[in-house]
Amino acid sequence: MALFCGSTSLMIGFSLLFLVLGSVNATLSKDYYYSSCPKLLDTVKCTVESAISKEPRMGASLLRLFFHDCFVNGCDGSILLDDTSNFFGEKNAIPNKNSARGFEVIDKIKSAVEEVCPGVISCADIVTIAARDSVEILGGPSWDVKLGRRDSRTASRSAANNGIPAPTSNLNQLISRFSALGLSTKDLVALFGSHTIGQARCTTFRGHIYNESNIDTSFANTRQTECPKSRGSGDNNLAPLDLTTSTSFDNHYFKNLVENKGLLHSDQQLFNGGSTDSIVSGYSMNSSSFFSDFASAMIKMGDISPLTGSNGEIRKNCRRVNL
Ligand code: HEM
Ligand SMILES: *[C@@H]1O[C@H](CO)[C@@H](O)[C@H](O)[C@H]1NC(C)=O
Ligand SMILES: *[C@@H]1O[C@H](CO)[C@@H](O)[C@H](O)[C@H]1NC(C)=O
Repeated sequence: MALFCGSTSLMIGFSLLFLVLGSVNATLSKDYYYSSCPKLLDTVKCTVESAISKEPRMGASLLRLFFHDCFVNGCDGSILLDDTSNFFGEKNAIPNKNSARGFEVIDKIKSAVEEVCPGVISCADIVTIAARDSVEILGGPSWDVKLGRRDSRTASRSAANNGIPAPTSNLNQLISRFSALGLSTKDLVALFGSHTIGQARCTTFRGHIYNESNIDTSFANTRQTECPKSRGSGDNNLAPLDLTTSTSFDNHYFKNLVENKGLLHSDQQLFNGGSTDSIVSGYSMNSSSFFSDFASAMIKMGDISPLTGSNGEIRKNCRRVNL
């Protein structure tokens, strides 16, 4: 799967034609940077490809960054801002601290993109493209991303603590949080299919594997061997969210749920005798329906409250607001 990072584009000739259209467009569109940065998509994909080949888990981490960005005041790059002595951003909010990762890869992409198109591409759009590329590289669906988001000049630790659901959430809490952001129950189940890749820390699933009965006994026993019962011990020990293929984007996550082998309490909520059981079993038997619903739901999630027009800014460095 070789990519040529420095390859020249044939699109330059169209630049002038689209320059005007691109600059007045205040909504998201797939061609937003068509003229201003024809090499954008190749440049991002190249960097994502090399990060994933160094560490396959990175695809999962980049996908999760997009979710955690979008669920907190919209997809505006707010999760990328570092704390300072007088600013407490989202990186150290409970759902992110010791958990969200991939920031160095976003920095790398930003540098690569600044080299080809300085001052043009938002960090929020970089996160969006990197999430899509990660899914595709790990064997999942691809889709056209809508672009044109601008970057926030603020971030909110409390909004991150309140806005990103906890792994102890029940189905009705999950449904209502997604619905508040315009995402349906089907979108919820499809997006949870992201847990077909990546890892979780013992502290996030201890309660489920020791204290709950809607879990396959031998699976619980296996997970207990790496996740001690007492709080505080082994909290950061990792286990794959999908026990079978944690670096392939496929529908095994749903097959696991049907067998009561969800890792998080919130995972197994999707198949626990409630209204989403039928969606889960559908996806477990038909991966193309999962893939197409997942792609649509990712586009919808990417539409949550973008900053456009003269709102926000194009950050020079994804970790800091411009001076
Ligand atoms: C809304 C309910 C959700 C809950 C409660 C939830 C919870 C979690 C938790 C607890 C972890 C493990 C984090 C850690 O231990 O450090 C995790 C990992 C992950 N989540 Fe979710 N998640 C949810 C939805 C989503 C969505 C919508 C996506 C993407 C569209 C997503 C993508 C991921 C990925 C890819 C990982 C693995 C990350 C890595 O390995 O670095 N999750 N999630
Ligand atoms: C299991 O539940 C009991 C009673 O609610 C609680 O005291 C204990 O801390 C829980 N254990 C784990 C590992 O979550
Ligand atoms: C699987 O889902 C796709 C897309 O929704 C649908 O077109 C197809 O008929 C389904 N296949 C089966 C075997 O049900």
